Amino acid sequence: MTERERSQMRQRRDSLRTRRQVERWKRKFERHRELHRQICEAAPDILGSRNFISTKGHIQHGDMTVNQHCVNVAKLSIAISEKLHVRCQKREMIRGALLHDYFLYDWHVGDAKKPQNLHGFYHPGIALKNASKEYDLTPREKDIIEKHMWPLTLTKIPRCREAWIVTTADKWCSLLETVHYFHGHGKVDVDQDDGE
Ligand SMILES: [Fe+2]
Ligand SMILES: [Fe+2]
Repeated sequence: MTERERSQMRQRRDSLRTRRQVERWKRKFERHRELHRQICEAAPDILGSRNFISTKGHIQHGDMTVNQHCVNVAKLSIAISEKLHVRCQKREMIRGALLHDYFLYDWHVGDAKKPQNLHGFYHPGIALKNASKEYDLTPREKDIIEKHMWPLTLTKIPRCREAWIVTTADKWCSLLETVHYFHGHGKVDVDQDDGE
């Protein structure tokens, strides 16, 4: 085989690899667009609310904001339920996932009232209280928000499949965000309402 033929073969191989990569990216992009569409359809009021937008001003893990973390958890919850063919109330699951960390403060800054190291224990209760003030929550949505930190909150065991899915998705997202596998864009300057 001549050098020219070898070069042509390399070019064909590279072009095939690029086409496959582009196809993979396209599928991934379409999948995310579809998940996003489902979230927008289930919770336009939450996504557009001033307090939910204000969560872009707080970091959750790594460089991921609380806002993006909650959207990630909602997307992964949908993906898990579809992959495992779990019959569930999708709308409630999405809304619960979006509001599961609705504590509305920067948990990295502790004070006497909210010591930083106890955030994991008390924030589900605060999130539930804040969300209940603004939304007419269903029992399922309440269960998702209140129990999502199980097993840390030992006695708060999820009682519905939607809550089990969200608590699993939350742990997986938290891990990938903490090790920077999921990248965020850092916090954004936004006006905030007082939560708790
Ligand atoms: Fe949480
Ligand atoms: Fe979370």
